[in-house]
Amino acid sequence: METLIPTINRLQEVFLTVGAEVIQLPQIVVVGSQSSGKSSVLESLVGRDFLPRGSGIVTRRPLVLQLVNVAPLEERLKTENGVKAEEWGTFLHCKNQIFSDFQEIRREIEAETHRGSGDNKGISPEPIYVKIFSPKVLNLTLVDLPGITKVPVGDQPEDIETQVQEMILSFISNPNSLILAVSPANSDLATSDALKLAREVDPDGRRTLLVVSKLDLMDAGTDALEVLLGRVIPVRLGIIGVVNRSQHDINTQKSLSDSVKDEQVFLQRHYPSLVSRAGSRYLAKTLSRLLMHHIRDCLPDLKTRVTVLTAQFQARLKSYGQPVEDHSATLLQIVTKFASDYCNTIEGTARYIQTTELCGGARMCY
Ligand code: GDP
Ligand code: NA
Ligand code: MG
Repeated sequence: METLIPTINRLQEVFLTVGAEVIQLPQIVVVGSQSSGKSSVLESLVGRDFLPRGSGIVTRRPLVLQLVNVAPLEERLKTENGVKAEEWGTFLHCKNQIFSDFQEIRREIEAETHRGSGDNKGISPEPIYVKIFSPKVLNLTLVDLPGITKVPVGDQPEDIETQVQEMILSFISNPNSLILAVSPANSDLATSDALKLAREVDPDGRRTLLVVSKLDLMDAGTDALEVLLGRVIPVRLGIIGVVNRSQHDINTQKSLSDSVKDEQVFLQRHYPSLVSRAGSRYLAKTLSRLLMHHIRDCLPDLKTRVTVLTAQFQARLKSYGQPVEDHSATLLQIVTKFASDYCNTIEGTARYIQTTELCGGARMCY
């Protein structure tokens, strides 16, 4: 896992760089209706405050969030001349700038959203690419998406619903995406847009996990027990209830760690029988385990694709002949080398998975 995911992430970058067809890679995509809590769920997975959240349409462009595990600063200071921050972020659109203040990362996401989709609630399918480097994260790619809406507001086009749906479908139809369908506990699960879209691309539910948010906002006298137990709508990979920060918590700058503590207290009080199978931490563990299974299942196919690509690149390289100073030829060489490293990693990982008991929680950092 630790060796596979950085390789996948690097590979994705190289393929993007050379404009080759991107290999379909495992990533976690959140879907749901507007303000269901998608950005909040992602933030709790990352363990840092840095995503724009709030009522109304806040997320207006896809945000591709690559988490990169790095050594703790103490260790890095001994060995490297790298970044002198414990955790930091970078953006593809301003590569050389290091953001060590997470408030600034949020502001940059907002500014870039503004640049790409205007200031009046418009949306854009053009993703923003962010990388977060931290000793506390698991190597994962997460995608935050605009929520499903029905009625256009501001500069939104008449067909906003279709446009957002198409944007979402373009991410979740990737068979290597794990779909995190977020549905608030205070609305009927039978009408869940998230589940409806997920079903369209994943009818057997092999890669859909349901997150029931806002457990704290249910009407007095009701609870989500039946939903969480899968008795209302069964979800093959699981149904996990969470309590994220309310708008008031955000306004009063409640910390994420306090939020997770309060979530545990809430679950203990209202769902004692489910306490070990609910909450943000359990969600993180479950995702880690699912991702590992998913990668294992994808390995044979990925390997075939890489082998075919390598052969194609090698053939093209040959056709270039000498001199290899040709810029594109050099790029091809890099890719070919990369692909062969990648195959080795796939084989190594397959062996590793075969000989290791799959234990989802073992590698989570928070
Ligand atoms: P998104 O539009 O789906 O990305 O949703 P956001 O994460 O931006 O959240 C929308 C609003 O709902 C924000 O004001 C959050 O504070 C609030 N919210 C999200 N999850 C919860 C929750 O579990 N409980 C409560 N009380 N509020 C939540
Ligand atoms: Na919102
Ligand atoms: Mg959002």
